[in-house]
This record gives sequence, C-alpha cells and structure tokens, in this order.
Amino acid sequence: LHVAVLMGGWSAEREVSLTSGSGIADALESLGHCVTRIDMGRDVAAKLAAAAPDVVFNALHGTPGEDGTVQGMLDLMGLKYTHSGLVTSVIAIDKVLTKQALVPHGIPMPGGRIVKSASLYEGDPLARPYVLKPVNEGSSVGVAIVTDSGNYGNPIAPGVVGPWQEFDELLAEPFVRGRELTTAVLGGEALGVTELKPKSGFYDYDSKYTEGLTEHIYPADIPDEITEACKAIALESHRLLGCKGVSRSDFRWDDERGVDGLFLLEVNTQPGMTPLSLVPEQARHVGMSYAELVQKIVDDAFD
Ligand code: DAL
Ligand code: MG
Repeated sequence: LHVAVLMGGWSAEREVSLTSGSGIADALESLGHCVTRIDMGRDVAAKLAAAAPDVVFNALHGTPGEDGTVQGMLDLMGLKYTHSGLVTSVIAIDKVLTKQALVPHGIPMPGGRIVKSASLYEGDPLARPYVLKPVNEGSSVGVAIVTDSGNYGNPIAPGVVGPWQEFDELLAEPFVRGRELTTAVLGGEALGVTELKPKSGFYDYDSKYTEGLTEHIYPADIPDEITEACKAIALESHRLLGCKGVSRSDFRWDDERGVDGLFLLEVNTQPGMTPLSLVPEQARHVGMSYAELVQKIVDDAFD
C-alpha cells in the first residue's frame, strides 16, 4: 500500500506527534509499504493530493488533527484514513462535549464547570482539591491539580505564570484521589488495564514522555471488579462515541470507594504511539508487536 503518514502540525503536541509518526512510518516501511511522511502545514491538502495515497495514517495529536478538522478535509478529498471520523473526533477532543455525550448513558465521569482563567485570581472555582484543564488539549498540556497542601503544575496566585494562563477558559473538575488507570480498545476488544505510577505524583507531560519517571504496571494490581469495570466502560464509551480503529480511555480510581470511585476522564481517539505510549504497550502485552498494531490500525481504515 501507499500510506501517507500525517504528523507534526502545529498543536501543543507537535513533538509527541512527530515521535508517534516516525515510529509508525518506520513500522510501515518495515512491513513493505510505500510511505510518504508529511509534516502537516497549511498546504497539507495540496501535499496529499499530489501524493494520492491509498490511505492516510493520521498520527496527529491535539488540535488540529485530533479534533475533526483534518478528518473533515480527508472526507472532502475522498481519502481513507485511520482512527475515528469527523463527528466522533469533534466530540472526543472536547472534554465537555464528551461528558454531555456519555454521562446520560450512565458512564461515570467527574462533574465539572467551565471557568474563565482570569477569574482564578479571585478565588477557587471549586472546593479543593480540584483539577484545571484546557477543554481540548492532550498530554496534560496546561493541566494543574490544585490541593490544600500545594499545587502540582502551576500555583494559582497573582503574577505567577503557569501553563493554565495560556487558556482563556478552563474546565474545573473535582480531583479524584487515588490511582491512574488506562484501557485501550482495539478491534472491538479492551486490551486490559495499565496503572500509571508517576514518581512526581502527577502524570504530567514530563512524566508521560521521559523514560524512568513513571512506572507502568500491566496488568494493574487492582480488584477484578475494577479491571472489568474499566474494560466495560472503555468499550461502551468507544461504542457510544462511534470511535473507529483504536481508542484509549483514561480513568481515575478512588481506591477507598470501590467501584463507585471509578471515573472516566476522557476518551483519546488519536492515542500516542511513542516508545513510552500505552496503546503499543498494552498491544505488546496481548502478543501484538508495534508493527502488527500499526498494520491493524491501517486495516481498520478500510472497514
Ligand atoms: N494525547 C496523547 C498523544 C495520548 O493520549 O496518548
Ligand atoms: Mg488526552
């Protein structure tokens, strides 16, 4: 096949996408495919039209790329592409729309409200501890956890610069104490549950992409009931949102509250494919190599 790998772009996750994309392109070449690597710029449509690939491997993360814009362009161009389509991407990239889509169906997610970041100088929007996050970013870009004893990420005080200040509006959610869990869905099956134990206590950008800063435990050492609940919620959320190919659902679990303490945070429709990323790791645990995973994602684009 002739596969165009779309990567890079200009989102806050550009570097992550370049790492995902180069791993994917290398794997596709090792599988014997003809690969055109495209670092997405404003001329992406012209480049794709010139390349005329059989399929586009979307290795973009964040906005644009994971948010429906690129999917809509590919739809208009009549090109087949990997991962979820336009409508699913628009909803899943937006943490508020995701709650609106999933909570009425019984998927447990933390409550939340949108706040103006300027208002944070006047006081806390929620009782502490709470989390502040941009509505449509990935890789914990701009995320802060605000507690009584201190703030991971970015203290809220007048004049103190933090990544949250880059955003006009933020989603404030009650912080779920306890454990960080994740589950990939591929081929209509949940691949299991990984627990992330970041040394810093906060699974932030550095903890995600720096070797040795986070312990990954698969299968997570949690009760079977919680493993099964994560898998069921990940599968049902993938289905409800209309995800295609692969997705990864991220959870917090308050281990003092049993299954009632399990909350879905979000569904990632373009999950990372870097050496430290979780979907390739879970695939490996179920006997699927990185190259086999990449081939499977390509095959799913033709379904
Ligand atoms: N947003 C990053 C790429 C992830 O979900 O893996
Ligand atoms: Mg995400």
